[in-house]
Amino acid sequence: MQFDDELLNRLRQAKRLVFFTGAGTSTESGVPTFRDEQNSLWINFDATRFATESGFRANPGQVWQWYAERRQQLQTLSPNPAHRVMAAWQDKTAGVTVITQNIDGFHQQAGSRDVIELHGNITANKCVDFGHVAPMDVNLSDQPPHCQQCGSLLRPDIVWFGEALPAVAYHFAEQLCFDCEVFVCIGCSMEVYPAASLPFNAARSGAYLIQINPQATPLDEVADCNLYGKAGEILPQLWQAVWQEPLP
Ligand code: APR
Repeated sequence: MQFDDELLNRLRQAKRLVFFTGAGTSTESGVPTFRDEQNSLWINFDATRFATESGFRANPGQVWQWYAERRQQLQTLSPNPAHRVMAAWQDKTAGVTVITQNIDGFHQQAGSRDVIELHGNITANKCVDFGHVAPMDVNLSDQPPHCQQCGSLLRPDIVWFGEALPAVAYHFAEQLCFDCEVFVCIGCSMEVYPAASLPFNAARSGAYLIQINPQATPLDEVADCNLYGKAGEILPQLWQAVWQEPLP
């Protein structure tokens, strides 16, 4: 893939860079997306049953099992070159932050140190009544355990539809949109707010906006550069073009 000089210079000279990632970043690790492919999760499962609090309360055992299966699947998968390039970039640019909608933890596994998880992490749990954080080892149970502090059921500590994003995480993410010089949006359908507002905020604040996605999204018309293709293929090529050295 050919990259234009402005794109390469912007990435070389940036002091504060944000990678904003969605499910498409993990596609090449084998993790299903939510809405763009035949095997996408919300094409095959009812999001109101598996990704809302009311759905959990109506059928806690079934929902807990569903996430247990996704947790087990994720344990067999691993970060792909897209995650590894973003992790390597933090040793080239002083301020690199990953703001992710993903709950798979692959950015941290790949070595990224500054990661904001807007939608939580699938390995974490909290209780459904008060949000008391629960120990990780309960993931092995086949039925939702009870909170040791209040007795209510445990649920995955991720953001379901209709729920607020973690306030501190979102505040920092918003601030970064105003401060960064380059904002790279990777594998996002741009359909779920408020996370989807972040790239638009960054563009409005003067950041150079790059989008990596095989398909067009609502962000196309405001991006400074749309790179159409797979993240796991484009990012290693972009690394080589910018830094003229192999990925570590
Ligand atoms: N590389 C880059 N992008 C890809 C790739 C790939 N290899 N494969 C697919 N994509 C793109 C698709 O074209 C699509 O635009 O990734 C995007 C995936 O879109 P969604 O499945 O909607 O995922 P996402 O945008 O992360 O969804 C946002 O919705 O259900 C909620 O909480 C969930 O965080 C999720 C949010």
